[in-house]
Amino acid sequence: MSVADRLVFPDPAGLPADLALAGPVEQREYLVDGEIRLWEGPMQEVASPICVETPTGPVQRVIGSFPLFGAKEALATLEAAVRAWDNGRGPWATMSVADRIAHVEGFVHRMIARRAEVVKLLMWEIAKSRADSEKEFDRTVDYVRDTIDALKDLDRTSSRFVIQQGIIGQVRRAPLGVVLCAGPYNDPLNETFTILIPALIMGNTVVFKPPRLGVLLHRPLLEAFRDSFPPGVVNTVYGSGRETMTPLMASGKVNVFAFIGTSGAADALKKAHPQPHRLRSVLGLEAKNPAIVLPDADLDLAVRECVLGSLSFNGQRCTAIKIVFVHSRVADDFLRRLSKAVAELKVGMPWEDGVAITPLPEPGKTGYLSELVREAVRLGGRVVNEGGGTVRGTFFYPAIVYPTSPESRLYREEQFGPVVPVLPFEDLEEPIRYVVESKYGQQLSIFGTDAEVIARLIDPMVNQVCRLNINSQCQRGPDAFPFTGRKDSAEGTLSVSDALRVFTIRTLVAAKDNPLNKAIITRTVRDRLSNFVSTDFIL
Ligand code: G3H
Repeated sequence: MSVADRLVFPDPAGLPADLALAGPVEQREYLVDGEIRLWEGPMQEVASPICVETPTGPVQRVIGSFPLFGAKEALATLEAAVRAWDNGRGPWATMSVADRIAHVEGFVHRMIARRAEVVKLLMWEIAKSRADSEKEFDRTVDYVRDTIDALKDLDRTSSRFVIQQGIIGQVRRAPLGVVLCAGPYNDPLNETFTILIPALIMGNTVVFKPPRLGVLLHRPLLEAFRDSFPPGVVNTVYGSGRETMTPLMASGKVNVFAFIGTSGAADALKKAHPQPHRLRSVLGLEAKNPAIVLPDADLDLAVRECVLGSLSFNGQRCTAIKIVFVHSRVADDFLRRLSKAVAELKVGMPWEDGVAITPLPEPGKTGYLSELVREAVRLGGRVVNEGGGTVRGTFFYPAIVYPTSPESRLYREEQFGPVVPVLPFEDLEEPIRYVVESKYGQQLSIFGTDAEVIARLIDPMVNQVCRLNINSQCQRGPDAFPFTGRKDSAEGTLSVSDALRVFTIRTLVAAKDNPLNKAIITRTVRDRLSNFVSTDFIL
C-alpha cells in the first residue's frame, strides 16, 4: 500500500461507541472563587486534528468550543487568587501541611473518577494515541502521589529545631503567593500538573490557563478542583495567551510565572511584569536535542532509540531527538535501517492499537514542516524514506532528510514534528561544535560502545546540556530525576522534589535561646498554636 493510501481518516459512523462524541463539547464553564460559572461572552471553536473525509478532501472536525476571555475577565480571575492568598494570610496559605495534603488527596481521588473522559478528549483534541493518552493520565496521577510523598519527607526534615550560636530556629519552605500556570499542548495534562500541583500543595494560589490546544480535556476536572480546594485557590482562564496572560503579568500581582512553552512567549510575558525582581519564573522551553551515532554504535539499538526519540507522538516533545549526527562510516547502514523502522510504524487514528503516527493538531503545521523539508532539499538534502513528507489533511508522513545542510532552517529550528534531519560527521568535534553553538541546552543522546570515547565526551558535554543519555533516547522521566536545561531551554529545575522547592522560599522563625523564648516555643508546640512552628511528624 502506498504511503498516501495509508493516510486515511475514519468514517464517524464506524467509531467505537466509547470514542464517539455525542455532539460538540461546548464548554461555557470556568472556575473562579470556588464557583463554576457560565461564560456568556465570545467562544473559540475547537477543530480536532482528526478530519472527516469529504468529496473535496479531508476537513477538520469541529468538536467543541471554549470561552475566549479578554483582559477584563482574566484580571477578575486573578483577583480571586489574590484574595485567596490574602497577603499570605488566607486559609490555604496558612493551613498545616497535613491538611493541604488531605485536600490534594481528595483531588486525586476525584480526578481518577474522570479518567475515561479525559483520555477520550486527549485523543480528540491532540490526536495522542490511546496508549500514550492513558500513560499521560496515569503518569500524572503517579506524579501527584509522589509529590505528596516528597512533601511528607520534606516536612519531616523541617519538623525539628536547630540551635546554632545560641539561636533556636525552625526552617521551613513557605509559599510565594499567586502563581500563573500555563502548560504546553503536547502534554497538556501531565506537564501542566507538574507545575500546578506542586505550586498548590505548597500553599500558593493559582490562576491556571490550559494550553490553546488541549482545553476541553481539562473540563471534566473543574468539579474536582472546585470540590477539593478552598474558594479562589484554583481559578481558570481561557483564551489567547497575549490577550489574557499579558495583562495578568502587567498587573504586577503574579508572584510566580510557571510556564512550559516557547522562550519567545516567556520572554515577552516576563518583560510585561513591572517589578521583575519580585517575579520567580519556572520555565520549560524549547530544545533541539541531538543524537550522536559513533562509528562503533550498535546500529539496531541506535535506530530503535532514535525512532522513539524523534517520532514518539510525532516528534511533538520538547525532549525529542531533533537532529541526528551519524559517523560517515556507518551513515548508509544507519539510514537504511532507520528508513525501514519508520516504514514499519503504524499510521492511523489515536485509538487504533499499536498506532505511532497520528494527525497533527497545530494549525498550519503540515505547511511549516513541508517548507522546512523543501528548503533542506534545495540546499542539497534529500528525503531518504519512501513517501517521507507526504501530506494529507493534518497528516504528515515522517520524513528523514539527509544530508541536512548547516545552512538550512531544519539544522537549527525546533521542528517539533515528524521530520528527522540527519547529517554525517568525520570528526567528533563537528557535533560538539553544534552543541556548543546551539541556542539550546536541554539533552543529548550518544550511541557507541567504547567507554573511553563516551567518557571523554561526558565531561565537557555535561557543561552544555542538563542530561546526557548513553545509548538511550532523550526523555524527561523518571519524574524523580531533575528536568531542566541551559541557555534558551529552561529556567529552574523540575522534578518531584525540586518542584516543591521552586514554588517556595526558605523561611525561618528564630529566637535567642533564653528562658522566655524557650517557654514561648514550648507552649506553641505543645498546644499546637502554630502550623509553622510545629514538630508534628506526618507519617
Ligand atoms: O515536551 C516535553 C516532553 O513531553 C517531556 O516529557 O520526555 O516524557 O515526553 P517526555
